[in-house]
Amino acid sequence: MPFDRSIRIAPSILAADFAAFGAESRAVEAAGADWIHVDVMDGHFVPNLTFGPQMVAALRPHVRGVLDVHLMIAPVDPYVTAFADAGADVLTAHLEAGPHIHRTLQAIGATGKKVGLAINPGSAIEPVAELLDLIDLICVMTVNPGFGGQSFIASQLPKIARLRSMVEGRSIHIEVDGGVTAETAPKVCAAGADVLVAGSAVFRGGSAAYAGNIQAIRDAALRATSQLA
Ligand code: DX5
Ligand code: ZN
Repeated sequence: MPFDRSIRIAPSILAADFAAFGAESRAVEAAGADWIHVDVMDGHFVPNLTFGPQMVAALRPHVRGVLDVHLMIAPVDPYVTAFADAGADVLTAHLEAGPHIHRTLQAIGATGKKVGLAINPGSAIEPVAELLDLIDLICVMTVNPGFGGQSFIASQLPKIARLRSMVEGRSIHIEVDGGVTAETAPKVCAAGADVLVAGSAVFRGGSAAYAGNIQAIRDAALRATSQLA
């Protein structure tokens, strides 16, 4: 995974057809998706339940690009090896998932996978400064985790900008997750995001609409960043 800050679109399969994850992943990659975002939920850390390592392993052969696994689980440590062995490329744990996030991020790094740190809307970013040497990606939640199709929480925009300056000079992606659409994408990219997770905005309208949906988000994001150039 060579590092650059070019805009990447990461459709979340939480919004896909749950009876056809392989076909849906192939369809969105064919439609221009850069990463595939997999929302793992345990019904404890978040009030919803999705899937585990076996589903990631089943999905792996159908995904050519980056498999971006978002662990909305607590505890995280007992499952790190299973998700790494299942074929995840990025494993993202939540700052809020337990008392020893530094140890969790070390454990993810020890698997050789890329290390992600997710932060909820209610969390301050100051602790991130203690973890920069361990991470490859920061995932800023712009909804409260657990569900797709929620409204974008605009109060997170200054947080994105502060994190972007915090990672200056480091190969750390700023990912934004929740309520990303062609309308909100320019705002998050202007603030400094480079990886855009989008579920409902990509999967709405069925597979014939995927390419247009992805392109609309990408074009809006690129317009914002070129304005910054
Ligand atoms: C929410 C998940 C998000 C969600 C995004 O807990 O982490 O990835 O699926 O879905 P949209 O883009 O519809 O907000
Ligand atoms: Zn997610």
